[in-house]
Parts: sequence; structure tokens; C-alpha cells
Amino acid sequence: MKNKSMMLMIFIISGLVIPGCSHQHVNNDQDKTEVTPGTEQHIDWFRDAKFGMFIHWGPYSQLAGEWNGRQVPVGRNAEWIMKELQIPVSEYRNMAKSFNPVEFDAREWVKLAKSTGMKYIVITAKHHDGFAMYKSEVSPYNIYNWTPFNQDPLKELAEACSEEGIKFCVYYSHREDWDHPGGYGNDWDYDNDWGQDIYDPEKFNIYLEEKAKPQLRELLTNYGPVGLVWFDRGMYTREQGLEFVSLVKNIQPAALINGRVGHYYQEFIGDYQSTNDNGMPPGGLEEYWETPQTLNETWGYSKFDSLWKSPEDIIIRLAEVVSRGGNYLLNIGPKGSGSIPDTTIKIFNEVGKWMERNSESIYGTSANPFGELSWGYCTVKGNKLYLLVKEWPHEGRLTVPGLLSRVKSAYSLTDRNNTISINKHENITYIDLPAKPADTPVSVIVLEIEDKLQVATQVVNQDENGEILLNYLTASTKGNASTRYNRKGGFHISKWTGPDDTVEWIINIDRPGKFRLSLEYSANREWEGKKYEIKAGDQFFEKRVISTTGLFEYYEFPAGYIDLKESGQYSLKINPAENDTTYLMYLKTIKLIPVETIKSEGWGS
Ligand code: GLC
Repeated sequence: MKNKSMMLMIFIISGLVIPGCSHQHVNNDQDKTEVTPGTEQHIDWFRDAKFGMFIHWGPYSQLAGEWNGRQVPVGRNAEWIMKELQIPVSEYRNMAKSFNPVEFDAREWVKLAKSTGMKYIVITAKHHDGFAMYKSEVSPYNIYNWTPFNQDPLKELAEACSEEGIKFCVYYSHREDWDHPGGYGNDWDYDNDWGQDIYDPEKFNIYLEEKAKPQLRELLTNYGPVGLVWFDRGMYTREQGLEFVSLVKNIQPAALINGRVGHYYQEFIGDYQSTNDNGMPPGGLEEYWETPQTLNETWGYSKFDSLWKSPEDIIIRLAEVVSRGGNYLLNIGPKGSGSIPDTTIKIFNEVGKWMERNSESIYGTSANPFGELSWGYCTVKGNKLYLLVKEWPHEGRLTVPGLLSRVKSAYSLTDRNNTISINKHENITYIDLPAKPADTPVSVIVLEIEDKLQVATQVVNQDENGEILLNYLTASTKGNASTRYNRKGGFHISKWTGPDDTVEWIINIDRPGKFRLSLEYSANREWEGKKYEIKAGDQFFEKRVISTTGLFEYYEFPAGYIDLKESGQYSLKINPAENDTTYLMYLKTIKLIPVETIKSEGWGS
């Protein structure tokens, strides 16, 4: 496990064997994923695709991180050059006049995505600089009317995508616009010193109504089916976010919407969660999610940035993201000339070769049903488990703890005809592997199992101090209770509204005694006073929620003392006591601290 203080083991407990697990999409757990009603069928392609290409491209690409001898330092976003260097609107507009990407070739870009194994592209139709990268009737400040290029790259990309069977998707910066006096973000040219929640609604509304919304309508009307709309940087109010959701769904009901459409610190709206940039959850989540990631240290092209990730890094990241049930949206920053940097192409070609051999373990799979695996990652599809082995075992033996189903056969994806021998002892499966890795940097071993996937529930042990820490990684959720991402990069359990929405942990006590129980959570003001129940062994508590200042600021609250008198396994369950329409709380952790420790440290009684 990532958390070293938590010693975790997996084993079968009689009567507690849980088929599948609590992670996303395993067995019957799919019904727990939050989607806007009616979109379940539309999200299928996204769930199966796993790998997409993000494209950050605009007039900033021709500046390549430098303007008038000043640079955007490596490590900061080159597409932010206008704001970073406070370039006046008039000068930026002037610079954009010479944008002439004559080397742009839509087919080549889409083919690169396809040969890398990507199933969708998301192109910046308008980034924060306010410049439209398509032919827009709303404002002449667009690539078709403003520049000598006189082409509509989005039209060409949409066509190439439809020919190649790739989903065409658009990024649109809906709140931030440094060109329009009513948009968010430009405080060097305009009297617009707005913040996360402070703005001039009148000015902002003009921007929304005369630019953002009409442009979005154009994008959803003139380019055929759009797979998803990728909004960015959040919105001031939930209502404004919802207006964008309706706008999209009314024109293209099948188009998906990413999680950045609404207010960042309120419950997310949209069809799937976007993690923070380059974000990675430590375990699987019970919701649809995607992580946008850079190939070097910037999204838009910078001539200074040579901190490229290697193809090996990318393949390992892909395996990690997919094994946690997410999608990997990997960025390219084409140059101002329209060409894609050579290094990008070289990296992508290597990734594509690995995908050619191993993509079966990626597309259409669901998350790792086990806890963390020391040697790598795991995905599931039908009756196949894909073991994505990063650390090839020197002793020639790979161990899969917790698999209860019988394994019919095992083979490597790169050598399907040679079966690999398997031994099972209790719930541990041993796989005998040759000395040399089957592939690099990740080899895929397939286990074909009989019948349904059955996995032992995880058991949380006391750590060296006798403490028990319970969090989303080891929770078994039932009903609507789900393990989720929060916009500030954390993870918690939520979506529970009634007594059937339970979360359970199995704990193993080898140093019995009295424990102080505490919960770390956040809760909205309106959730104050909601009742919840905790059952630990034969002990029962009923408590009330105390609201915290924000949805993503977790606080620790004592819940009482429990006596676990004997060694052995106990179940600890928590659920809302009554049915309600809103969530109980965002639960981050439950801690059990031995009272002895509290006494000896002198901060208890
Ligand atoms: C951030 C940056 C933006 C970039 C985006 C990609 O929000 O502001 O420049 O497009 O991340 O995820």
C-alpha cells in the first residue's frame, strides 16, 4: 500500500468472501457510478476508450514560450504566456495576425493519435487567450478570419477523425478569457481584479451571452458529433455551470461533459470527474474519471522545455491510470508552424508499438479488483485478468494475493501459445514465469478464470503502534455509497443518502483493548445534524454530522470509544441513519487509536 503505516493483508475470511470488490466497474458495481440520467449509454465509448490525445494549440504556440526576449520559465504553462508576461490585448492580437500554421496536417495528427492507440482527441477550440481556433461568426478573432491561414483546422480535424474512427472532442475555456473585457482573468488591461468567487456579474454575463455561449453553440452545430466538451477552470456559480450543461445537452445529448464545468468547490456536475492536472488517485474510484497529463512540463509548445517523459514513463502511467479505472488524456503541444515536435512523435511511436502488442489489456477493461500489487497493475475484462507486470520477479514467481476464482489458463500477451504454469495455495495464486520479461517496460500476463471473478475482501491490520487507519482504499461500499475524487486532489466516500448505503471495513485485531474512534470528514452547512450509525463488532453508536467550513476541508471529529476485547476479525460499518435527499458527509478516514497510546503520550485521560 502507498500508506506504509497501514499494514494490510488480504485473506479469505469465512463468511466474508465478497465477490468482486468495491472498485469501479468490477462485477455488479457499475450501477454505482454517478452519471446524469440518460447519459449511461453515451459514456460507454469513453469508458472503453481509456486513452485520448489532448491538443493545446493556438497563437501562443508560435511564441513558443518567449515574447520580446522574455521567457515563460520551464515548469510553467507556455500557453499562459499572455498572462505570465502581461502582454497587452492589442499586442497579442497583433501577434496572432501572423499565425500561419502552413505545416498543419489534420490527417497526420489524427493518424498519430490512432497509431499511438488513442481513441479520442480533445483540441483547444478556444483557450484562455480568447482566440478561436475555428471559423467563428461570433467574433472575427479566430484563425479563419484573423490570420493569413484562412483554413478551419477544426473542420479538417473533425473530418479526419470521422474517417479514422476517432472521437472528435473540443476544449472550451468557458470562464477564463483574457481578450474579452467581461471574461475572467485579465487584470492587466481591464479593470477586472476578479477572484475565485468575486466578479462583476453584469460584465461577466455580457461575455457569457455574447461570446462563450454562442461560440459553444457553433462548435456543437458545425462539426458533426462531438464526443465530449472539455471545460476548464470551473465556474463562479453552480447555476452558470448548469447552463453550460444544458446548452451542450440540448444541441448534442450524446456529448459528454467533463467535471471542470461547474464551481470547483461545490459538488461536481458533468458526466465524469477530471482530476487535477497530472493527477493520479492512489487507488480505484467508483466514478468515471480522466486525468489530463503533460508530455513535458507544459501544455502549449515551449522551445525551452526538453523535460520529456520517456515512452516507458507513459506506458507505465497508462497502465496505472487504467488499473484504477480512469482515462489517460495525454497532451501534445504542436508548434506554431503546425508541425508536431519530433520528440513527441518518437515517444508516441514507441507507446504505439507497446499498444499494438498489449492494448487488449487496456481497452474496455475495468479497475484492479485487488489492493495495491507490489509488481505492477491489474485490469479485468470478462473472464480475463490482465496482470501488467512492471517489476518482473527475479525469482521467477509472481504472486497474486486474494484471487478466489479458479484459473483455467495463463499466458503472456506476446506469446499466447505457450501456457504458463499456475499454482494455488489457499487464496494465493503463484505464477511461474521465465527469467526474461516478456515485454518492456510492462509485460502483460493473462489469467483466464472460470465463472465469475471472486476476490477476497481486504483486511486491515493494526500498524506498529496498534492503530488502525481506514480509508477509501480498503472500503467495501454498498448501495449508493461510493469512493470518489475531490477537486482538491483528495479522495473520500460520499453519495450516501440512506441506511442501505453502507461502507464496511474488516479489521484484524491482534492487540485487543480499548480504542478511541474518530472520523475525518467534511460536510456542507445543510448537512449539519444528519444522523449516522457506526457498528463495530457488537457495539453501536449513533452520531450527528457537524458541518465543516468547506466541502473539501476535512476535520477530525471524535466519535467515542470501543472495546475490542479479543483478538480476531471485526467488521466496522458506517451508514446514514435515515433516508435523505442529500449526502451524509464526505468521509476521508476513520481512525482507531489504542487508549493505551493516548495515555502514554499524555494527551488523553
Ligand atoms: C490548467 C491550465 C490550462 C490547461 C489545463 C489542462 O487548467 O490553466 O492552461 O489547458 O490545465 O488541464
